[in-house]
Amino acid sequence: MKTRTLLMIKPDATDRNLIGHVVNRLEKARFKIVALRMLHLAEADARRFYAVHEGKPFLNDLVAFMTSGLVVPMVLEKENAVEDTRALIGATNPEKAACGTLRWEIGLNIEKNSVHASDSNENAAVEIKFFFPDLK
Ligand code: CMP
Repeated sequence: MKTRTLLMIKPDATDRNLIGHVVNRLEKARFKIVALRMLHLAEADARRFYAVHEGKPFLNDLVAFMTSGLVVPMVLEKENAVEDTRALIGATNPEKAACGTLRWEIGLNIEKNSVHASDSNENAAVEIKFFFPDLK
C-alpha cells in the first residue's frame, strides 16, 4: 500500500542550490512528489514544528538555523514511504550516515544535515498537516 511522508529541504541545502539535486534523487528513487512549497519559516512555526525536541540543548540553535533561510517541505508518496525516505537520507549525523545516502553526500554537520524526514507514520501525518493542511 502506498503511504506518505514529509521531507523538508533545509536552509543549508537551499542556500547551496541543491533543491534540484535533492528532488532528482527522490524522483530517481521512485518517490512521487504530491505537494511541494518553498517558504521562510517564522520562529514560532519552527518551534511548533520541532515541539518534540522541547527542552533539548540543541533546540534554540536548530530553530535559529531553520529560520535562517528558505526551506522546501514536500509530501512524498510511495510504498513504505517513511522507511524508504529515511533509508535514502541516512543517519541524522552526516558523519555517521551510510555511504551514498543524501546526508552523507551533501550534509555538513548534525544541524546542517540538509534534509528532515518524518520518523513514523504518525509523525508524518502531523507534519504533512503542518505544511499542507488542505492536502487530500
Ligand atoms: P531533523 O531530522 O531535522 O530533526 C531534528 C534535528 O535536530 C535533526 O535533524 C538535527 O539537524 C538537529 N540536531 C542538532 N543537534 C542534534 C543532536 N545532538 N541530536 C539530534 N538532532 C540534532
